[in-house]
Amino acid sequence: MTNYQALNRAWWDQAAGIHATSPLYDLEAFIAGENSLRPFEADDLGDVSGLDMVHLQCHIGTDTLSWARLGACVTGYDFSEKSLKVARNLASRLALDASFVTGDLYDASNILRGRTFDIVYTGIGALTWLPDMSRWAEVVASLLKPGGRLYLVEFHPLLNIIKSDTVALDASWPYFHHDEGMAFTDAYDYSGSDQVPSEMTTMEWSHDLGSIFTAILKAGLVIEQFREYGEISYQRWPGLEQVGASKRWRIPQGQPQIPLEFSLIARKK
Ligand SMILES: C[S@@+](CC[C@H](N)C(=O)[O-])C[C@H]1O[C@@H](n2cnc3c(N)ncnc32)[C@H](O)[C@@H]1O
Repeated sequence: MTNYQALNRAWWDQAAGIHATSPLYDLEAFIAGENSLRPFEADDLGDVSGLDMVHLQCHIGTDTLSWARLGACVTGYDFSEKSLKVARNLASRLALDASFVTGDLYDASNILRGRTFDIVYTGIGALTWLPDMSRWAEVVASLLKPGGRLYLVEFHPLLNIIKSDTVALDASWPYFHHDEGMAFTDAYDYSGSDQVPSEMTTMEWSHDLGSIFTAILKAGLVIEQFREYGEISYQRWPGLEQVGASKRWRIPQGQPQIPLEFSLIARKK
């Protein structure tokens, strides 16, 4: 394991316990039957009953198990064993059939022993932890059956440039990909918990849309759908307003309206 993997995994192992009791992940509501997927996701993929799905970087498994509730046969995959412990407990408590496998993203093909799936699902804060989109897309392609689909639902890379606590487009950070990535050292968390993981270094990368598209196309997948959304799944900045009573947030009118999330479907020939 390289330095960036060890640093990031230590942060995620600590975050897992905090997230399990956080307002954002709201496991009480999830256990009571709430679905944690974004409102457009079930329509985008259509009927998933009986389809084999692997969820890469599944964290504590709420999205993975939401797909299981919709009938998919799910495998969650993540390098944080502490996250998967929460996911396995949830699955057993809800009597949902799901398996959760530990491993680094770039080793997924080997660790899953060459298994292939109808759907590779990933995103919502996944790509930023990976240094190389070409290798990521090759892993995705290797996990897909012929005709299988990648479903990527991710924070829009335009967000990565905004540093401030407002939605002002201050463009402090780079939009374009840089191999060296960025080191963050602040004690920070996004889940609304009153605890945060202790101060430690994490490494993240910005992937511009061109890098993501090119990596997917070069891995032999055909992009069938790409959409951008003006809403996001958490209150990324204090200035965002809640969309009705939903768990979605948007930039108030009168301020720059930029895309906050995107979704992409790509099919293996
Ligand atoms: C923001 S979470 C993804 C959230 C997820 N979409 C969900 O359903 O909650 C990012 C996840 O990526 C995982 N991760 C980060 N780097 C990874 C790597 N190199 N290999 C595997 N998992 C990784 C972390 O452990 C964490 O669970």
